[in-house]
Amino acid sequence: MNFGVLTGGGDSAGINDFLYFLAKRLESEGHTLTGFRSSWLGMVNNDAISLNSAMLAPHRHTPSTMLGSERKNPIKDGQMDQVLASLEDRKIDAMICMGGDDTLGVAAHLSELGFKVVGAPQTIDNDLRFTDYTLGYDTAVRQAATCINSMINSNVGHDKDMIAEVMGRDAGWLAFATALNTPACACMCPEGPMELEEMIERMKEYKKRTGRAGLAIVSEGIELKGVDRGELRKDAFGNVYTAGVGHIVGDIYEKATGRKPRVQVMGYLLRGGIPSPFDVDLALSFANLAVDLILEGKTGLMVTRLEGRDQAVPLRDVAGGKKYMDPKFLETQFKRMLA
Ligand code: F6P
Repeated sequence: MNFGVLTGGGDSAGINDFLYFLAKRLESEGHTLTGFRSSWLGMVNNDAISLNSAMLAPHRHTPSTMLGSERKNPIKDGQMDQVLASLEDRKIDAMICMGGDDTLGVAAHLSELGFKVVGAPQTIDNDLRFTDYTLGYDTAVRQAATCINSMINSNVGHDKDMIAEVMGRDAGWLAFATALNTPACACMCPEGPMELEEMIERMKEYKKRTGRAGLAIVSEGIELKGVDRGELRKDAFGNVYTAGVGHIVGDIYEKATGRKPRVQVMGYLLRGGIPSPFDVDLALSFANLAVDLILEGKTGLMVTRLEGRDQAVPLRDVAGGKKYMDPKFLETQFKRMLA
């Protein structure tokens, strides 16, 4: 069989390992693998490359995707016919699409047009439903914790509180995990429930109790009551760019406390990093399961690790929504675990 693969949306660690494992598995059984560059843009433009494990090997254990990625929405741009023409031209029998809810939403549509498609969940945001983890999330948390923890002594030595902003779009998974893996005494997630006033009070109390400068984790997607951020930029799928909210929080914090904080926007650092062993294992599982499903004639599905078990769920179910933190859990369980 001739397999095709694309990697879409925001990149992360683990994707290159996924591509390597995919090539390795397919070669061992006499199948071919064609990679489409820059996600759906490469499918519209028929921009593809034949992949094999030898060429992919040097990319193992490195972040991002050697195929490149692009936030191209062929449904919105009315170019699904070009996508189908590229598949026909390249004689692709089945597609494996790796990405977040936007990439997999287009994959679900391609499946409904009758093409054999299997999706694989990947984004640092971990905001896809029906999977415990998305590929890249574990490494992103490790990146955030390693970088932030490396700054704590300097913050304390200079008696500077820190407000560290992390990515995650409108879900607080990355912020939550970062707060648990750092000495954060406060954490603001888009889902709530901690508001600015409580964050400020917690930081004051931490300083009073420990004598040390405090750390607050802020998710980029938080709403700040009474603060008008004006018209924010959107991407091809309508996602709003909210990065930089940490600076607004920092200004408000300084006015409220008289202490000018260090504002550290983690940004794209969280998309980098050497893939964690967990993510490499997830990449292997996702690659093998995607091939198994297609060889068994089961498509229109997304591979997943759900409740600790590798399985598959309908692509259409995944594409229809996002996975958010439970505000009740954040209020009752999480807050009391903070420093
Ligand atoms: O979806 C992954 C992500 O890193 C988000 O956390 C972030 O808000 C967004 O991508 C940034 O988008 P872009 O890569 O288009 O700058």
